[in-house]
Amino acid sequence: MSIIKTEELTYVYSAGTPYEKTAIDHINLQIEQGEFLGVIGHTGSGKSTLIQHFNGLLEPTSGKVYVDGEDMWADKSKLRGFRFKVGLVFQYPEYQLFEDTVYKDISFGPKNMGLNEDEIDNRVREAARFVGLRPEQLEKNPFELSGGQKRRVAIAGVIAMEPEVLILDEPTAGLDPKGRDRILGQIKEYHQQSKTTLLLVSHSMEDIARYAQKVLVMNQAKVFLHDTVDNVFAHAKELGEIGLSVPQVSRVMMGLSEKGFPVNPNCYTVQKAADELLRVLKGGNANA
Ligand SMILES: Nc1ncnc2c1ncn2[C@@H]1O[C@H](COP(=O)(O)OP(=O)(O)OP(=O)(O)O)[C@@H](O)[C@H]1O
Ligand SMILES: [Mg+2]
Repeated sequence: MSIIKTEELTYVYSAGTPYEKTAIDHINLQIEQGEFLGVIGHTGSGKSTLIQHFNGLLEPTSGKVYVDGEDMWADKSKLRGFRFKVGLVFQYPEYQLFEDTVYKDISFGPKNMGLNEDEIDNRVREAARFVGLRPEQLEKNPFELSGGQKRRVAIAGVIAMEPEVLILDEPTAGLDPKGRDRILGQIKEYHQQSKTTLLLVSHSMEDIARYAQKVLVMNQAKVFLHDTVDNVFAHAKELGEIGLSVPQVSRVMMGLSEKGFPVNPNCYTVQKAADELLRVLKGGNANA
């Protein structure tokens, strides 16, 4: 069964005013339990609006959202439970840190869930370990930390709630490439170990190719493509038409293939492309 499902999900900002804007328009989606889904699309295509429906932050203008088969808005007294089930880390989450120690910030969510002190302590330490914060950093004031470390604190705060679905909205925006790779690597490891369903909103096709299993491409408030990484990147031409591009390395591989070099053009990461080139150079057949 899908962990998240939407039916004709539509959201209109400022309805009935001159600023009315349909941000997502009749979205029908199913997200399977345990998958790692990359969400990509232009600025304003509706990514953040869509994912804010999955933990009940936004109420649909029309249409439905189901979590674990249950209609989220059927009984409003149950909304709180859905918010614990689906954890959301906002874009630039460091602006939402407000406690005077890292420990208190990470424990905010688990405390709200009404867990006991020991359980909270375990979860805080485990979550901090997952995101690569050292135990002594727990006693620091979050404002003493670097941008990347603050980002980790915010992510740990959601992980500590042990949500069934973890959604990260551009978790690496504004970080340097090293900090970016480190955080994404940890998120991937978290996904593998916890079996949590993971949604990663990103502007980078390279990152999606490297980390995600499936991709949702949003375009002008609609779903443009929703499929496996391979199947989505096989639509290089259509992606190009809406101004998105497949990773640079796949353009190189497709170019080589078009020129008659016997490589498999469907290589989306540098590692895969390197393996493929080596194989062909050593005399293997393409598409083996
Ligand atoms: N609070 C708001 N009030 C009015 N319109 C909004 C609001 N938030 C978003 N919008 C509009 O809704 C549309 C979708 O915005 P959304 O933030 O969901 O896009 P996005 O894909 O997340 O963009 P980005 O990549 O820039 O984060 C855009 O046209 C945006 O201007
Ligand atoms: Mg956004």
